[in-house]
This record gives sequence, structure tokens and C-alpha cells, in this order.
Amino acid sequence: WEERSLRPQSLSQYIGQKSVKDNLKVFIEAAKMREECLDHVLLYGPPGLGKTTLSLIIANEMGVNLRTTSGPAIERPGDLAAVLTGLEPGDVLFIDEIHRLNRSVEEVLYPAMEDYFLDIVIGKGPSARSVRLDLPPFTLVGATTRAGMLSAPLRDRFGVVSRLEYYTAEELQEIVERTADVLEVKMDKQAAEEVAKRSRGTPRIANRILKRVRDFAQVRGDGTINYAITDEALKLLQVDKLGLDHIDHKLLLNIIEKFRGGPVGLDTIAATIGEESHTIEDVYEPYLMQIGFLQRTPRGRMVTSSVYNHFNLEVPGK
Ligand code: ADE
Repeated sequence: WEERSLRPQSLSQYIGQKSVKDNLKVFIEAAKMREECLDHVLLYGPPGLGKTTLSLIIANEMGVNLRTTSGPAIERPGDLAAVLTGLEPGDVLFIDEIHRLNRSVEEVLYPAMEDYFLDIVIGKGPSARSVRLDLPPFTLVGATTRAGMLSAPLRDRFGVVSRLEYYTAEELQEIVERTADVLEVKMDKQAAEEVAKRSRGTPRIANRILKRVRDFAQVRGDGTINYAITDEALKLLQVDKLGLDHIDHKLLLNIIEKFRGGPVGLDTIAATIGEESHTIEDVYEPYLMQIGFLQRTPRGRMVTSSVYNHFNLEVPGK
């Protein structure tokens, strides 16, 4: 419950993502004026930037219920039918990791999105027949880490497609200060700024770090979060000055030490550091590329000279 109350409940409480927010505000208001449900919305971008939170806010702003599920949870068309037939008119259905829906489920979803009906096949072989089920109008909010992983026909059925960006340090600081407020913990401005700077542009990381720093402040200090406690806690959590953690370090140092800085293929990196390729691609690489530490080339991944500087290593060839 604490986790949920940490989430902003309305667009006005939601910090950052200005263009996504400004657009949604108009589309929500227009849909409400017409007394229609909002068009289907696709949210994409790296994990932890607020896709789930936005779906909650969309439902709140529209004054409807939110139903939440995920691509992997809907294994068969019947699972989707169960979810869709349980909706009330205007409800928001949030499907996280929507790129992981299988083809047979996707095909059932198309007419549901376009015309609010389901064609369900009952039985097998010659006795199989198709049953048409009418659905209440609803808004599908789909979330994915990469829009490119969605099939084109599914992507085309979303009327609103929004890309979430990494937050600026200023926006993250505001979020950290808001969260500290909700948690009723005292925090210096400097400490909030430091957490913000070391959270990889990601509110989920910022809020997680804040909770751990709060633990240190409670046990080793007087409960107030100041800069010194924050810096000490982040050191123990192995989060460096740029917010990179030990997996980022392992990834970057591996490319340097085993592959002379690259280029090296993603699967090779994954195998040598013992992480899943997908996790590296969706979670770690986007931020490393954003800060100019990693480049994707046709022949594989390469670290940049900034990485050598960050680790106080000599830049090769200099
Ligand atoms: N908590 C997590 N993400 C947030 C955001 N974008 N605005 C306000 N609070 C948040």
C-alpha cells in the first residue's frame, strides 16, 4: 500500500514527461467532453519511467476502473476473453509487457480494440465453431520497453503512441523530495540532489535508493537524511557517482578487459557476465548509450573513451 500511495494519482501530481502529459491532458479532456472512452494508448520506453503510474492516472482522470495484466500472463485467447468480458464500459485495461503477447492472443485483440467484439473459436477440427462476443467500450493502455518489438498491426491500432524519456536530474530531485514527503522523512536539499544525480534518470531507482538511504539514516543517524549519510549509503549500495551499479561496471569493464573495448556482440557480453541478453538490452544499455558510454555498431557494442576516463584507465591509442 505504501508503494501505491507513493505513486502520483493525477496528471497534476505527475512530475516530468511534459510532452506526454500535455498531450494526454488534451486527449482525456476531449474524450470526456464527447462522453467517449479514451483512444487506446501505447506507452514505450525503458523500465521504471512511469508507464504503470500513467495508466493509473489515465483511469483516475477518466473516472473509470483500472484493470492490470501483462503479456506473459495472457497465455491463450480464452485468458484475454475472461479479462475483456469482465470490464465495465469505459474501463482502462493496462497490459504491461504487451510485446510478449503471443500471436493467437494478438489476433483476438485486434477486433476487440477496433470494434469491441471478440471472435472466439470453440472446439477443434470439423466441429469447431466461432462465437461472437460483444464487449463494452474500453481503453487499452499497452506498455513496452521497445515499440520496435511490437508487431506492426498491433502498433497501428493504438491511437496515441507516447515515448517516455529519462528524467532530468531536476525532475528526479522533485520526485525524490515528493517521495520523502510522502514517507514523512526529513531530507536535506543536497541529499535529494545527490540521490537524483545517481538514479540513472529513473524514478523507480530514485525511490528505491531513497528507501535504502532512509534505512541508513534511521539506524546510523538520527533519521534525517543528509548528504553525508546519502553518500555513505550509496557507497555501500555500490552505486557510483554517475549512478552506475556493479552490473554496469561488470558490463563495461568486461568489454574493455576481454574485448579491447569492442565491438563485441550482445550475446557474447551476456554470456561473459552471466546476465540475460534481454535484460542488458532493455535495462542497462539504454542509459549507458544515453550518457554516451556505449555505442551500438553493426559489428557489436563498443565502449567510448568516456568509460576509460570514468574508471581512470588510459584511453587506448592515446
Ligand atoms: N513517482 C514516481 N514517478 C513519479 C513522477 N513522474 N511524478 C511524481 N511522482 C513520481
